[in-house]
Order: sequence, then structure tokens, then C-alpha cells
Amino acid sequence: METVVVTGAGTGIGRATALAFAGLGAANVIITGRRKERLEEVAALHPAIVPVAADVTTAAGADAVAEAVRGQVDVLVHNAGIFRFTPLAALDLATARDVLETNVLGPVLLTSRLLPQLRSPGGAIVLVSSRGGHNPGPSSSLYSASKAAVHSFTRSWAAELAPLGIRVNAVAPGFVRTEAYAANGLSPEQVEGLFAGVAHKIPLGRVAEPEDITPWITQLAASPLVTGQVVTVDGGLDIGGES
Ligand SMILES: NC(=O)c1ccc[n+]([C@@H]2O[C@H](COP(=O)([O-])OP(=O)(O)OC[C@H]3O[C@@H](n4cnc5c(N)ncnc54)[C@H](OP(=O)(O)O)[C@@H]3O)[C@@H](O)[C@H]2O)c1
Repeated sequence: METVVVTGAGTGIGRATALAFAGLGAANVIITGRRKERLEEVAALHPAIVPVAADVTTAAGADAVAEAVRGQVDVLVHNAGIFRFTPLAALDLATARDVLETNVLGPVLLTSRLLPQLRSPGGAIVLVSSRGGHNPGPSSSLYSASKAAVHSFTRSWAAELAPLGIRVNAVAPGFVRTEAYAANGLSPEQVEGLFAGVAHKIPLGRVAEPEDITPWITQLAASPLVTGQVVTVDGGLDIGGES
């Protein structure tokens, strides 16, 4: 495995994923995000990690990633994403656009831009989706719809790219302890309250840490006969029947 690209890797699941690939021996792990300082903090942890400040919602961002790639891309992880409350009764159009542009348009732009550089055959794309993509709840319909689109990309791109020998899979986490909730405007107390409230609904009893998710991302990237699959990692919340 020579080159891995992980979007949104200055924090959370993306950060842990970049460190996991570097730990597995990837020669170059290109990490992206908008906050350069957060990327540099992660890059300081492993010499294989290369920070590239790039916004996934722009063509310029995709160009910056493509220019940073030397040779071919073995693994492309679309992890950058935002969660925002979008209740219909108080819909903010700018927020709705942000969710759709980041979570839906972002992976499309970068996949399309990097396609000529994806290893063929042998390349792999892993999308970080969400349980909300197949089990939507109230007040976050834009987010859930954006992740339903990611589920859909997983299947359609898997079929479209199979003739090139490129596989496409997704991981759909439930609740994961990251900065995503603070980025949505919740205070630390509100985040803890939310996690405490959901923990008793999770059959396995706790919200996830980023390191609970990353083994599935690295494994899907390395599984030569698996494509078009969405793996849910949610502590059994789906089978618990509550959202
Ligand atoms: N945490 C959960 O409970 C949970 C559950 C299910 C799914 N997920 C999914 O997991 C993925 C990672 O989220 P996380 O939980 O690890 O949250 P996080 O810590 O907030 O990470 C999200 C990352 O995406 C980056 N990002 C956001 N907008 C971007 C843009 N326009 N261009 C480039 N990078 C951008 C952010 O960096 P910058 O702000 O510096 O750009 C940030 O590093 C997301 O796709 C999320 O939907 C999370």
C-alpha cells in the first residue's frame, strides 16, 4: 500500500484512520481538511502523514489533493462530513446547503477528480456514512438524506468501477465520541447528556470511540472480493429498534 488519501483527517474518525493506515505501513497518507493547524498536529505524529489544506466542497480543494498525490492512489477514504440540526420548522437554507455540499457533493468532486489516479486494478474507496443513512431520525433530515446518498454512491460506484478493478464500500457508524457534536453547536454538557441518553438504548452499552470504527475502514480497503457493502458499526443500535 503506497498512497492513502483521507479527507477530514484533522480530527475524529479521519484522524484515527490516517494514523491507522500509517501504522499499517502506508508510505504516504495524505490528509485533508480546512484547518491547517489541526492537520499539522496529526502530521507531527507520523512521518508518512502529509497535510494538505483543502475544502472538499470546491474544485480547487480537489485539485490541491490531486496535485499532492505522487503516482497512484491505493485507498481513498471520504470521511469529511458535517452533522447539523435541520428541523423543518426552522430551516436555514445556508446550513442545508452546507450539509449537502460537504457530505454529498464533496465525495463526488474528489472521486471524479482522482479517478485517473486511482490504482486500476486494485484501488479501493471507503466512504464514511452513518446509521442515519438507513435509519433516519427527526430534526436532521438533511444529514440523514446526505448519508442515504452516500449509501447509494457505495452501490452505484461499486458497479461503475468494478470493471476497473476498483472497489467501493462504506462504514456507517452510530454515535461516535468526536468533535462533530461541538461543531454542530452543542456544549460539552449537552454532548455528555446526549451520549448518556443514547447509551442505554445501545445494546452493547456505549457510544463508540474513533478507534472502534477505523479497523472496519482499513479492512474494507484491504478486502479484495468485497464491494458495494455498507457495514454498520453502532453497538447494535439498529437491532435495538430505537433511533
Ligand atoms: N461522530 C459521530 O457520531 C458520527 C456518526 C456517524 C457518522 N459520522 C461521520 O463520520 C465522519 C467524520 O466525522 P467525525 O465524527 O470524526 O467528526 P469531526 O471530528 O467533526 O470530523 C469531521 C472532519 O471533517 C472536516 N471537514 C468538514 N467540512 C469539511 C470541508 N468542507 N472540507 C474538508 N474537510 C471538512 C473537518 O475539518 P475542518 O473543519 O478543519 O475542515 C473535520 O476534521 C463524518 O462523515 C460524519 O458524518 C460521525
